[in-house]
Amino acid sequence: MFPTERLRRLRRTAALRQLVAETTLRPNDLVAPLFVAEGRDRPWPIPSLPDQFQHTVASLLDEVRHLRDVGAGGVILFGVPSVKDEVGSAAYDPNGIVQVALRAVRDAVGEDLVVMADLCLDEYTTHGHCGVVRDGAVDNDATLPLYARTAVEQARAGAAVVAPSGMMDGQVAAIRSALDGAGFTDTVILAYSAKYASGLYGPFRDAVDVRIADGGDRRGYQQDSRNRREALREARADVAEGADIVMVKPALTYLDVLADLRRELDVPLAAYHVSGEYAMVKAAAANGWIDGVAVAIEQLTAVRRAGADFVLTYFAGEVARELQR
Ligand code: PBG
Repeated sequence: MFPTERLRRLRRTAALRQLVAETTLRPNDLVAPLFVAEGRDRPWPIPSLPDQFQHTVASLLDEVRHLRDVGAGGVILFGVPSVKDEVGSAAYDPNGIVQVALRAVRDAVGEDLVVMADLCLDEYTTHGHCGVVRDGAVDNDATLPLYARTAVEQARAGAAVVAPSGMMDGQVAAIRSALDGAGFTDTVILAYSAKYASGLYGPFRDAVDVRIADGGDRRGYQQDSRNRREALREARADVAEGADIVMVKPALTYLDVLADLRRELDVPLAAYHVSGEYAMVKAAAANGWIDGVAVAIEQLTAVRRAGADFVLTYFAGEVARELQR
């Protein structure tokens, strides 16, 4: 005779379930990606990212105060410059839009929220690639000094964390040495270590007006979705170069990678629940097919359960508000 395991005993009441829950999801586990555009006179809604905006500096400040009030952990800023060029100069211009916004955000909420800056060139280049293009390819080593300059300008403007997302080899080392050389030894590096070439970035590219030239893609520098072990090599290399936190992106299609990195590394681990992941939930919810905020909480909990300490997500404000209730 087999004894019946009475597993339902611990699920009987909400209080019991709460007591034995293995995973938490709190507002301060969430970091909100925010877009700020140069030269707009009012916030512009992003069609493929419902409830998200290209902000003005003023509307950005309203949004970050709201995020502080609902207890979010941080914000990560993306700039949309009014002028792009071949080498992405607006990314490292001391008066570029992201630097202007960082100063304002630091002064408004810098004590309460962790202020981060995405560090890449694609929003700032005419060709839409993450680095300098030579002979039709992104030149890794010619790009590094531009990332280093950008990091220093972002730190000077008030970024507590810089987050290189371009997948250039050696980017973390180049940024760490530039930051240290300029006296920014306390600036944290959050490395997009395992960043996959994904179909889920579509809405983001609308949000920042990026069109990759000549129908190109990023498969020459972002990871191939068939590869799992390779993510460990990327993350270990970044930690060796001085990354303080490593990140996996996208989140839900790479939960195995998150679990691997959690097991193998002892640095904090982040995940990016990206624009396409958000847009799919929003679209289904808008049709009345799913309960959007419930699905968002389930997805973000899965990302925490797989091993992420915190999650970058466009749901940060909405879910933090829901969790506070
Ligand atoms: C590169 C960058 C991208 C995202 C974050 N940083 C786009 C890309 O690699 O093409 C995507 C984020 C998202 O889809 O939400 N600057």
